[in-house]
Amino acid sequence: MYKLETKGLAKRYGETDALLPTDLQVKAGEFLTLLGPSGSGKTTLLMMIAGLVDPSGGQLLIDGKDATHAAAGQRGIGMVFQSYALFPHMNVWDNVAYGLRMRQVKGAALNSAVEDALAMVKMSDYAKRLPKELSGGQQQRVALARCFAYRPSVVLLDEPLGALDKKLREHMQLEIRRLHDDLGATFIYVTHDQDEALTMSDRVCLMNQARIEQLGTPQELYDRPCSRFAADFIGQSNLLDGRMTATQSFAAGAYNLSVESAYVPTNHHHEASTLLVRPEMAELVTPADGFVQGTVAEMVFLGSEIRARVKLDGMADSDELFSVRCHRRHAASLGDKVGIRWDVASTSVLMQ
Ligand SMILES: Nc1ncnc2c1ncn2[C@@H]1O[C@H](COP(=O)(O)OP(=O)(O)OP(=O)(O)O)[C@@H](O)[C@H]1O
Ligand SMILES: [Mg+2]
Repeated sequence: MYKLETKGLAKRYGETDALLPTDLQVKAGEFLTLLGPSGSGKTTLLMMIAGLVDPSGGQLLIDGKDATHAAAGQRGIGMVFQSYALFPHMNVWDNVAYGLRMRQVKGAALNSAVEDALAMVKMSDYAKRLPKELSGGQQQRVALARCFAYRPSVVLLDEPLGALDKKLREHMQLEIRRLHDDLGATFIYVTHDQDEALTMSDRVCLMNQARIEQLGTPQELYDRPCSRFAADFIGQSNLLDGRMTATQSFAAGAYNLSVESAYVPTNHHHEASTLLVRPEMAELVTPADGFVQGTVAEMVFLGSEIRARVKLDGMADSDELFSVRCHRRHAASLGDKVGIRWDVASTSVLMQ
């Protein structure tokens, strides 16, 4: 049995499909991330699970029971939003106690639940402060404590780190993942940041245009994207548009490239397709040794590595540069004529 299951769950606003009929199964204790571009339906799906938006069709099951129209307060679900939405006139302690008081928790039980929740997010020393006396990261911790205090079995988080700077974001990503592991609750986390999705999640649900594009572990999405969109959205990618030929090679521009051991999704035919080559699976070689040839147009310093960006010969209708990971000792120079090779087994042929 699943903790949460949607069957054809859908939402329309007038002529707009905010979410097309969607089937999704979420396991108990799982950390699932909804990832996708703006307007792809992430918040809509989350709000219907929370009971804050009424579905236009389909069904929601919680613990195997129909909860499609259950009141939000009866679902055992906690929610954390991008804006922390703390009560400005209440101190940290009262903010965390608020949801518990609403649920008639009192006295010693209230005290220990608030103190446990504050300890969990390392904010016990700040109980008497007002929200405006806290940093952004501290306010977000209080919002998390307020949600966790009543021990929901499902926690929904909608871009909770959106307002934080990069360093604090990365720190809080690890904190939230640790809190998930401590609580043992089911987490559904919304972000449009692919790095965040890959680092934090057990599974990622990639959304595009009001539907699920692909659902899988971070590694499955990275190594085996199901479409050009998925490959482009997750990780760095070189995408060569062309077509499969009868001889199991791939024709792109002036090249005939081997795809003998490449991954080809099962439902794929020989129509226009795209060859995906990840930059870290490619290397610069002499022009004669390369599968493709070109001229180094940019060198991008990324700290731990350098990316060579190559303008390919024989690709008349594409201005895209091909990225290749270089080790610092073997960096190339701008204007060098180079060849590029890659590990064919790591490439995929995708539908456009
Ligand atoms: N209350 C509403 N009335 C009309 N249209 C809406 C409403 N809420 C959402 N939509 C539309 O539904 C679609 C999905 O919106 P949703 O908020 O779920 O996207 P999202 O993936 O969360 O995007 P973002 O990353 O920008 O938060 C969008 O086209 C949006 O304009
Ligand atoms: Mg949203």
